Amino acid sequence: MSQQTQKKLIRALNGETLATPPFWFMRQAGRYLPEYRKIRATARNFLNFCYTPDLAVEVTLQPLRRLHTDAAIMFSDILVVPDALGQQVEFKEGEGPVLEPIRNTRQLAELNIDRLHDHLSPVYEVLSRLSKEIPATTSLIGFAGAPWTLAIYMVEGRGGTECGTARLWDYEDQAGFKQLIDLLVDAVSQYLIQQVIAGAEVLQLFDSWSGVLSEDQFRRLVIEPNRRIVENVRAAHPHIPIIGFPRNAGSKYEDFARETRMNAVSIDHSVGLQWAKDHLQTQVCVQGNLDNHVLMAGGNALDKAVDDILRTLSGGPFIFNLGHGILPPTPPENVERVAELIRNWSGVQE
Ligand code: CP3
Repeated sequence: MSQQTQKKLIRALNGETLATPPFWFMRQAGRYLPEYRKIRATARNFLNFCYTPDLAVEVTLQPLRRLHTDAAIMFSDILVVPDALGQQVEFKEGEGPVLEPIRNTRQLAELNIDRLHDHLSPVYEVLSRLSKEIPATTSLIGFAGAPWTLAIYMVEGRGGTECGTARLWDYEDQAGFKQLIDLLVDAVSQYLIQQVIAGAEVLQLFDSWSGVLSEDQFRRLVIEPNRRIVENVRAAHPHIPIIGFPRNAGSKYEDFARETRMNAVSIDHSVGLQWAKDHLQTQVCVQGNLDNHVLMAGGNALDKAVDDILRTLSGGPFIFNLGHGILPPTPPENVERVAELIRNWSGVQE
């Protein structure tokens, strides 16, 4: 395919600067949309919803109809991987995910990677159906949780503000904790490789809890595992673009961008725009970073925040996105407004 006929998202990921940047939104399918809530109400529970291709395909398509984003992100969740490894995972209404925690190598030995593809076959079906149904200019994104973030949920039993149990396990028994990380590197690599075979054109790795780590742990538990996954996936699919999202990594974003060899890094809203331009965009494509709370607030504050991002980052390889997922109380009109502002943008207007 010639450069001009390639999809916009792929062009940006390959390092091209586009006058009007491509955009999509983390959690673009979700509870802020009335049409999502209607379909969600028909499913028995959240995991079952993710594993029902008819429903998962439909809710993936919903935001495309409203927002005409440059990407469709398959509807699923990062916690399907621990579920596929045999850990008990449940999504409790109003509480979020709850897992039967794994706290030592004996419990770790009960996990089993052999049924991974079998268990996740509904996800592959969602991707292969979407690849035939989405518009020709839209890119299909597959994703997985990165090992550290998956380990948090697997060890803590839920998301944690300090992630103390997992960090302590690593400091007390580095070799034991590494067995968990290694298992996840293997499982996530295999899962992503299969997603590409099923139809994913771009992959994103979510490392939502990387901001709590010391420099030493960040290197061993975030940079190294992400780097190894990129290497494994590229060995099977050399040209697949990959986006890394070490949320809240602050100044550590720079080493992450340089060492993991991702095509893009997704930045959270706490990262300074000028800093991202000077330190990250010189190495990779940058994705981000509208604050999901200003998106909820709307009005002039929203218009200004969108404008600031476009002014600072659209002069290099860039994908407009949020700093973290859309929150359920967000008015859909605010998200439509952002889509309109980006579409009407045509280069830096000094
Ligand atoms: O972005 C998308 O539109 C694709 C779908 C997607 C979901 N989860 C659907 C979802 C993606 C990419 C995720 C990733 C995910 N899941 C992450 C990484 C990104 C991040 O947010 O940090 C994490 C940590 C999870 C784990 C998870 N799933 C939590 C903590 C929760 C509960 C919080 C909440 O928002 O309810 C979920 C549930 C979940 N995953 C929902 C959706 C739409 C809401 C559940 C529902 O509709 O009942």
